[in-house]
Amino acid sequence: MEEGQISTIPATQTTERHMLMRILGIETSCDETGVAIYDDVQGLMSHQLYSQVKLHADYGGVVPELASRDHVRKLLPLIQQSMQEAACQPADIHGVAFTKGPGLIGALLVGASVARSLAYAWQVPAVGVHHMEGHLLAPMLDDPAPSFPFIALLVSGGHSMLVNVQGIGRYAILGESVDDAAGEAFDKTAKLLGLDYPGGPLLAKLADSGEAGHYQFPRPMTDKPGLNFSFSGLKTFAANTIRSANDDPQTMANIAYAFQEAVVDTLVIKCRRALKQTGLKRLVIAGGVSANQQLRHALQDLMRSVKGEVFYPRMEFCTDNGAMIAYAGLQRLKAGEIEPLATKAQPRWSLESLSAI
Ligand code: KG4
Ligand code: ZN
Repeated sequence: MEEGQISTIPATQTTERHMLMRILGIETSCDETGVAIYDDVQGLMSHQLYSQVKLHADYGGVVPELASRDHVRKLLPLIQQSMQEAACQPADIHGVAFTKGPGLIGALLVGASVARSLAYAWQVPAVGVHHMEGHLLAPMLDDPAPSFPFIALLVSGGHSMLVNVQGIGRYAILGESVDDAAGEAFDKTAKLLGLDYPGGPLLAKLADSGEAGHYQFPRPMTDKPGLNFSFSGLKTFAANTIRSANDDPQTMANIAYAFQEAVVDTLVIKCRRALKQTGLKRLVIAGGVSANQQLRHALQDLMRSVKGEVFYPRMEFCTDNGAMIAYAGLQRLKAGEIEPLATKAQPRWSLESLSAI
């Protein structure tokens, strides 16, 4: 069977498009073990998250092998806790969704194996979810949910992209990072500033005590047309700035401020262009960096100025979590997508290759 192809479904594992469903969602693509139960009628019934931040902190970044092993340790207990939290028995679950990719291969395989095995044992279908589709649909977990079509700015540790979203699975990538993702640039610059991993939120906190006007960082790729991003130059600019500056705390805060301002400004400029190019007036921001308050405020201002609307996930669903996987999985299961028994993880997987539902 081709990678990503959908199997012929055993009789006990079919889904009815109109059947009300309750789904167990599993996220293990990187350094967070996330488990959630999402129900068509009741909404989110349980949401459990275990972060591996402490495990990787000494290394200054995610160590893939340690990540996989920790998912092995934490996943089953988290599933048990989730089932208890939602007061569910296996017979109450109609399908198991898991992050199939993109992500770290070992980490993905833990989620895929556990999800596929549980679904087999419970005689329900399993479905493999694209991690970035999970992020993209995360604002749908809240009320009001954005309606289609919209522009999505997906900014995480691994990806930065602008997507024209016409419906679930109807994605056209308008632009993406040609080098580092936005979150990656935050993390690398944070490291240069002497902050711990993951540096994004810590840099944002340091920037709160920074002052404007001391440093001027470039706004990469904004002087030419186009919607691609490039963030690796900002990290180099930060390295050079730090090298020639005093290392007192206020200077570090001022540099953090200027770096964050440059990333936010760049993202706002590209979002404005994407809206203009498509004529759309609705914007969704998702992925870890969508937790950044300055970015949220700046995009709110942008959407106010164009009389449009902006949506972002609640804070806990900006970064990786099982709820977004359960939600996206439920949509795909209802469309009849089933993961074959011989499942594979897909560490590289284009968002545009997903089927429209
Ligand atoms: O979506 P996510 O949890 O994982 C991936 O799919 O990559 O995103 C994690 C990224 C990290 O790079 C982290 O530093 C960044 O999101 N991040 C932030 C903030 N919170 C998380 N970056 C800037 N400001 C924040 N408040
Ligand atoms: Zn993510």
